[in-house]
Amino acid sequence: MNDPSPETALILELALRLARAAGALQRSRYETVLTIGTKSAPVDLVTEVDRACERLIVDELAVARPEDAVVAEEGSGTDRSSATWRWIVDPLDGTVNYAHGYPRFCVSIGVERRGVRRVGVVHDPLLNETFHATQGGGAFLNGKPIHVSKEDELGRGLFATGFAYDVHRSHDDNLASWAAFVKSARAVRRDGSAALDLCYVACGRFEGYWEQKLHAWDVAAGQLLVEEAGGRCSDFGGGPVPPDGNPIVASNGRVHEQMLALLRSVRR
Ligand code: IPD
Ligand code: CA
Ligand code: CA
Repeated sequence: MNDPSPETALILELALRLARAAGALQRSRYETVLTIGTKSAPVDLVTEVDRACERLIVDELAVARPEDAVVAEEGSGTDRSSATWRWIVDPLDGTVNYAHGYPRFCVSIGVERRGVRRVGVVHDPLLNETFHATQGGGAFLNGKPIHVSKEDELGRGLFATGFAYDVHRSHDDNLASWAAFVKSARAVRRDGSAALDLCYVACGRFEGYWEQKLHAWDVAAGQLLVEEAGGRCSDFGGGPVPPDGNPIVASNGRVHEQMLALLRSVRR
């Protein structure tokens, strides 16, 4: 494991500060009356807190790192193709949970240098759990190194997945895969925060996770966490995860081929 370069260390420090500040905002507004709108579908929600967290992060980055590109889910970032560093921000991952007062949501910030993921931070403000990773520098939970689980049997594993917001109208809905894992694994969870699902693979709580139709901001931090914790991420065929995170299979490595085989068996 290598110490991050001085610039990467500065970026990590800033990402941690911004994630904790946005998390504090989420915590302060949790279970209060919120203005809630919809986006791509009636089940695709956005709250005033999603937007406020994004504003906070984007505004601070504009002051601290004006040259950097920022891609943020709610659209207020400025992407710059010429920028060396790109911040990929999900200001609130788990919006449906947040809107319902279900305590599972987080802030996710991934930072890449010329297209290569360098820093990932995911902060869960209710559990006060902060996950971070730097490329080549390992993965950490609240400052302590984390590793994927050692389980090598899918049948003894705990898995997670999610469903895209077009699930009511699309036949490509992940339900056959869900059923296959329910019938094969010890148990499967659908808990509504892709970034935390990935971090839970990284720290060994889940053996694996898969999802389709995600976006770069859902995986930019969590994928690096899994890889730096010794796990493996791929697409459904075992190739590299596309830059937009669609699709992704993340695991402890040991059950990865079993996951791919199960996914293949229902996707023919
Ligand atoms: C969603 C969550 C959910 C996943 C969805 C994502 P959002 O992100 O990560 O777990 O199943 O596909 O879009 O909208 O809460 O940021
Ligand atoms: Ca998200
Ligand atoms: Ca979000």
